[in-house]
Amino acid sequence: MGRLMLISMLLCFWAGSMLMIECGDPYIFFEWHVTYGTISPLGVPVKGILINNEFPGPNINSTTNNNVVVNVFNNLDEPFLITWHGIQHRKNSWQDGVLGTNCPIPPGTNYTYHFQVKDQIGSYMYYPVTSMHKAVGGFGGLRINSRPQIPVPYDPPADDYTIMIGDWFNKGHVALKKILDSGRNLGRADGVHINGKVAKGDGKDEPLFTMEAGKTYRYRICNAGLKTSLNFRFQGHPMKLVEMEGSHTVQNDYESLDVHVGQCYTVLVTAGKEPRDYYVVASTRFTKREATAMGIIRYQNGKGGPSSDIPKPPVGWAWSLNQFRTFRWNLTASAARPNPQGSYKYGGINITRTITLANTAEKVDGKLRYAINGVSFVEPTTPLKLAEYYGVANKIFKYDNIPDEPPTKISKVTLEPIVLNMTHKALSKLYLRIVKRPFNLGTWMAMHSSLWRNVEIGKWSPEKRMNYNLLDAVSRHTIQVFPHSWAAILISLDNCGMWNIRSEIWDRHYLGQQIYISLLSPNRSVRDEYNLPEDVMTCGVVEGMPRPPPFSS
Ligand SMILES: *[C@@H]1O[C@H](CO)[C@@H](O)[C@H](O)[C@H]1NC(C)=O
Ligand SMILES: *[C@@H]1O[C@H](CO)[C@@H](O)[C@H](O)[C@H]1NC(C)=O
Ligand SMILES: *[C@@H]1O[C@H](CO)[C@@H](O)[C@H](O)[C@H]1NC(C)=O
Ligand SMILES: *[C@@H]1O[C@H](CO)[C@@H](O)[C@H](O)[C@H]1NC(C)=O
Ligand SMILES: *[C@@H]1O[C@H](CO)[C@@H](O)[C@H](O)[C@H]1NC(C)=O
Ligand SMILES: *[C@@H]1O[C@H](CO)[C@@H](O)[C@H](O)[C@H]1NC(C)=O
Repeated sequence: MGRLMLISMLLCFWAGSMLMIECGDPYIFFEWHVTYGTISPLGVPVKGILINNEFPGPNINSTTNNNVVVNVFNNLDEPFLITWHGIQHRKNSWQDGVLGTNCPIPPGTNYTYHFQVKDQIGSYMYYPVTSMHKAVGGFGGLRINSRPQIPVPYDPPADDYTIMIGDWFNKGHVALKKILDSGRNLGRADGVHINGKVAKGDGKDEPLFTMEAGKTYRYRICNAGLKTSLNFRFQGHPMKLVEMEGSHTVQNDYESLDVHVGQCYTVLVTAGKEPRDYYVVASTRFTKREATAMGIIRYQNGKGGPSSDIPKPPVGWAWSLNQFRTFRWNLTASAARPNPQGSYKYGGINITRTITLANTAEKVDGKLRYAINGVSFVEPTTPLKLAEYYGVANKIFKYDNIPDEPPTKISKVTLEPIVLNMTHKALSKLYLRIVKRPFNLGTWMAMHSSLWRNVEIGKWSPEKRMNYNLLDAVSRHTIQVFPHSWAAILISLDNCGMWNIRSEIWDRHYLGQQIYISLLSPNRSVRDEYNLPEDVMTCGVVEGMPRPPPFSS
């Protein structure tokens, strides 16, 4: 556990002057010290990023509607910022912790995030968004437990374990950033880690976790890597999939799961085998050369090390697509609220705007860039949201500067921020199609209120709409797009703020594959959006500017 300082507060209070947090919902406080420290996930020492001396960082263990307060001290020599991947931040994009909404925390200073995990349950993670920090740590698990009065569609597990897996580069974040800045490709990862370690299999490995024979455990598995899809499996133990990114799923058993970058799955595993050690295995998918990492799961009072019979990963991406097709929303289970997930009938919603995003890899002035519909995103020094709030958006970016459909021919890729202007309406929906052009697999993080997803292969055509799953596709916030294929998602435009849609393939994200959606409160009302927090960091052109008048109540 991290440094959980205090768990509840009796008083209702106002954080900042106008940011009203709901009365009565408990507070959890964390103080995080971010430092460099030597770590060696693959046996090679690397300058890593630790939080309170931990790598991976501490777990945040919260419950639906908790107010989470995290005071982050940046003791690095570079600006630093963390995002809460999958947290909806309703009416409160101020806390999203991406560079389009927040200034990075300058070295040697601290900044306090205040956010509520309103109406959410499930398994998430946090990670740094600055520089290439994510490559060397600063990430960890974030779980939101159900409130006691909300039924959960399985028995309480004996314990709850978080597993962060990811590809790993021994070069360190400074060298990786230099490679990308100079217009080159990151190349292949050096290996894979499981919770920052790799078991050697020499009989001396410490177990990651311990299980008692006969009991059932909950494992939350997240891919916090940079670019590689990983297949995760337990030696000899099936995994019952129960939840993904806040949705209860239909509970199927899987021998292995493909976990794409940025995605989290919750599975139940029953310790029903001969008591001894077993391996968990993560191996790369869709790479020319396979890299594998193992970890040890120990049975209490078990006898003997793990068998050397390592389960093999599946082959080819068609397997992955077929597995994706088996994921279904459990329509009768309740997620964060008492009403069943299925009572939100998304299939009947009318679409108000359709946007197709297509990505391309290009050389711009001799350097590699990734573009969306002809524009490659660059991060301005003034966060987009602050520029908009302070009324100086026109100095920083242009709205709707990419076409809603990808141009058939791109003459020259431009480098600028990308911001789509959307209208806030309770029922308006955006339908977004992400089409991949280069032969590669990608994961996209969509807006925090996105709902259903369809992933297919081949060329999209309007008739494909007939085959969309309009009934029980799982609501989540990431989607993978297979080679030469497309994914369709539906986003509900009910959460005012500035929201990032990004490639989770981190080199592409760094080199331009992201956009923002601006959803403004038409009458600047706090009913739609919280005010600029009192203690918000300012930077760029808004630094020193007088604060605009607050939103009206
Ligand atoms: C996480 O929070 C839940 C609910 O408050 C509690 O039951 C559980 O013991 C906590 N787990 C850890 C590891 O702190
Ligand atoms: C920095 O930390 C101090 C001490 O914990 C706290 O009082 C202060 O509010 C923090 N500052 C910010 C901007 O979060
Ligand atoms: C779906 O959830 C319901 C209600 O909690 C539960 O009874 C049922 O077993 C679940 N169905 C599947 C297929 O997982
Ligand atoms: C969608 O549009 C149709 C046709 O215009 C209309 O009949 C229907 O009521 C609309 N549905 C919703 C949920 O707004
Ligand atoms: C954004 O779109 C709305 C209509 O949907 C329009 O009224 C508004 O002027 C647009 N804002 C900008 C800055 O383009
Ligand atoms: C502002 O607009 C919202 C809907 O977007 C509405 O609910 C609210 O009443 C309006 N507030 C004011 C002060 O006009």
